Amino acid sequence: MLIRSRRLRTTPAVRDLVAETDLLPRHLVQGHFIQPREGATEIPSLPGITRNGIQETLRQVEADLKLGIRAALLFGVPERAEKSADAAAAYAEAGLVPRAVKALKEAFGQDLVLMTDVCLCAYTDTGHCGLNHGAEIVNDESVAVLARMAVAHARAGADVVAPSDMMDGRIRAMREALEAAGLPNTAILSYAIKHAGAFYGPFRDAADSSPKFGDRRSYQMDPRNAREGLRDALLDLDEGADALLVKPALPNLDLVWRLREQAPCPIAAYHVSSEYSMVKAAARNGWVDEAALFREHLLAIRRAGADCIVTYAAREALREHWI
Ligand code: PBG
Repeated sequence: MLIRSRRLRTTPAVRDLVAETDLLPRHLVQGHFIQPREGATEIPSLPGITRNGIQETLRQVEADLKLGIRAALLFGVPERAEKSADAAAAYAEAGLVPRAVKALKEAFGQDLVLMTDVCLCAYTDTGHCGLNHGAEIVNDESVAVLARMAVAHARAGADVVAPSDMMDGRIRAMREALEAAGLPNTAILSYAIKHAGAFYGPFRDAADSSPKFGDRRSYQMDPRNAREGLRDALLDLDEGADALLVKPALPNLDLVWRLREQAPCPIAAYHVSSEYSMVKAAARNGWVDEAALFREHLLAIRRAGADCIVTYAAREALREHWI
């Protein structure tokens, strides 16, 4: 036989020599849920992840840094009493996320790439990602609030703000607000392609952010569409985004790949809550090897073209033998 592909598969050393993709700690971003109370609260649908007070978050980030995880994405989970029609707690300068950002930056400085999720869903009384007039989620008023939120996070010291709300025009508004506030160095990681659907259930338990009426289909993308997402993503780049994110990751590897080819910027993918919880649930039944399966998930996302991956599974994937 002239061609025997197995020649280059014979030993670990030769397999390593010809491996096309790496999955390294530097590629991973750990998601964190921040609560006002100190200590940790279990999230039943997201086993192994807790909502943490600021001190506990400091401890977790320190442990993650020892594993080589150098990027963190923060989600604020305010008290129910703080939720309101105008989502004012989302942009309070002394709010939960700005306080957490300050504490983390004081403790870890440049060792940590600190990102914050910018969205109103944990702060509105409706659980929607924007403000509402009756049943309508209004765009431009929401964008103004989101821009204030991004500035509050950046002023506290966030390296990267990551808008996940899916309103139109938010990237330009945020970029202009950051420039006007004298914060030109804060990067924007846009959740550019974010599909609506069932993949975010455990997250909404964690962040207490389920919509109280309707669903998110009037602002998040229709999962039947790909070209629409590519157009939106390229627009975000023109509006001043520094990097683009695709979410959920595994159902959208086609879009990760196409964006990799078409957008000249770093591409991130979000391995979302139910991608994590499905593996956890199967592992609890003894049906799958959790660490191995997580590594295969993350490797597939890397092979599709993601430079970095937001995931809840970073610690598990790093626990045993690393590929
Ligand atoms: C906020 C936001 C969501 C996620 C990230 N940012 C929830 C949603 O859009 O309903 C989901 C992440 C996950 O499922 O892990 N809008």
